[in-house]
Parts: sequence; C-alpha cells; structure tokens
Amino acid sequence: MTIMNAKQMIQNAREQQYAISAFNTNNLEWTQAILRVAKERQAPTLMAISMGAVKYMGGFKVVANLVRNLDEAMEIDVPIAIHLDHGTFEGAKEAIDAGFTSVMFDGSNLPLAENLTKTAEIVELAKKSNVSVEAEVGSIGGEEDGVVGDGEIAPIDDAIQMAQTGIDFLAAGIGNIHGQYPENWNGLHLDHLSELSTAVSNAVNHPMPIVLHGGSGIPDDQIKQAIQLGVAKVNVNTEAQLAFHQGIRDYVLSNKDLEGKNYDPRKFLKPGFSAIEQALNERIDVFGNANKA
Ligand code: 13P
Repeated sequence: MTIMNAKQMIQNAREQQYAISAFNTNNLEWTQAILRVAKERQAPTLMAISMGAVKYMGGFKVVANLVRNLDEAMEIDVPIAIHLDHGTFEGAKEAIDAGFTSVMFDGSNLPLAENLTKTAEIVELAKKSNVSVEAEVGSIGGEEDGVVGDGEIAPIDDAIQMAQTGIDFLAAGIGNIHGQYPENWNGLHLDHLSELSTAVSNAVNHPMPIVLHGGSGIPDDQIKQAIQLGVAKVNVNTEAQLAFHQGIRDYVLSNKDLEGKNYDPRKFLKPGFSAIEQALNERIDVFGNANKA
C-alpha cells in the first residue's frame, strides 16, 4: 500500500527541482493507466479527481476505495496521493471524510478574506486526518468542469497570506489556463513566478512548493524553467483527454474496430488508454519525477 498524503513527495520535489505529476482521472481504466505509468516510471504521482469526475464516478467513497484497491491489486510500489482537484469547501470536507489523502480547496473565486478563512478551516480539519492541502490565489484561466476563470495573475501579497494559512502547496495564477492554449497565448509569467516563489518561501521560512495548473500544452522549456523557479507539482488533464480521443478516433477510422470481437469495450477502448499512457510518459520526461520513488 503506497497511498499517502502529498506533502513529503512535493516538498522533496521542490528541494531537488523536479515536479510531481498530478494526472486527472475519469474512470476505472484511466485510473489503471495512471497507476501503470507511475509504477513503470517509478514516479510519485497524484491521482487527481475533479468535483465533476467525483460525481461522474459515483462519489467520494467510490473514488477513494477504487484508487486504494487498485493500488493494492496492481502492487503499486511508488507514492500515490488521492487528491481532490479544485474542491469546493463542502467537497474538500467530504473528500477528507471519505479517505482522500490530499485536497485542493479552490476558493479563488471568493473575496480574499473568505478564501483565507475557509482555507485555514480546511487546513485545520485536514491536519487531523494527515491530509495535505493545496489552495489557490489569482485564478487559472479557461474552463474546467463548467468552472470558468479569467486567468488573474496572483498578487504577491495574497500569495504570502495564503501560504501563511499552513497549506502544503500553493496554486498561483501566472498566465496559465485550463484546456488548450490559444495561438496568441502570451506564455507563463516567469518573472512573476520567480518573485512570488521567493516572497512566499521567505514568509514561511521554507521553500514553498508552487503548483502549475493547466499543464497541457505548455512548451517543455517553460515547464522546465518554472520548475527551476519553485513549481513542484504540474497538473495535466486535457492532454490525456486529447490522446484518448485521438487513439479511439484513429482506431475507428482504420476500421480495426470492425475486426473480430473488437466491439468488446475492453478491446474497443484499449487504443485510447494506451494513448493516455504514452502522453503521460512524455510529461514525466519533462517533469523529471521518474525514479524518484
Ligand atoms: P489541463 O486540462 O489544461 O491540463 O489542466 C489540468 C488542471 O490544471 C487540473 O487542475
């Protein structure tokens, strides 16, 4: 059993300048694909589940038990955290009760004072259950599960105050967006990241791990620079979705699905999940968390 909270693995990554992969899952086979890649690459990983995916998969307990049971059945031997991605206040509490080992409380759409108070409340609850906590300042642009953000750059003072609530890692808007990046995207605001990362680390007297959301489609060199500046967890969702879609599409367009018993969902969906594994492997190459178990 290698399910644990994410604090130590992300702190190690921050200190040694690589990033932990946080891969979003959507169903049974997706979860298996992520675990398989984590094991093959010996890459500590967060199994990230959005509020929408929790609902889709049948609830917090179903998800927590699924990941735990697969971890055991697949003899996973690398650290894995069961992480709520962009949780509401109530969602984060439910996740802690259900056995998640890490939660993100996303109060970035609230006034700062309320975001800080609610985050502090989640931190207090989470600590009792040995659960790690992520919170967000600024906002991530784009749309995810119906939540639309404008992409507000995180003010340094807000980030300092949030870090002081006792969270374990901090998501900060630095020009990153969820989903596919538009042609005219300006890139990550790396100077701002550098300033923010130094300021929050000084404020809490240890290197604060920064989380980069919207990891899909960010050029490799920008991700590598962001890691040098304090990013220690990168979230990837859309890239796996696109890979899955393309894998199935190629399969159908090649008419291979019409051969034999390939209508069996276990065969029909396989090219999609193989494509996910390939996409996630490529991200691990960039994040540098292979062989860090
Ligand atoms: P992408 O879908 O853009 O990879 O973003 C994932 C994410 O940040 C999840 O929180």
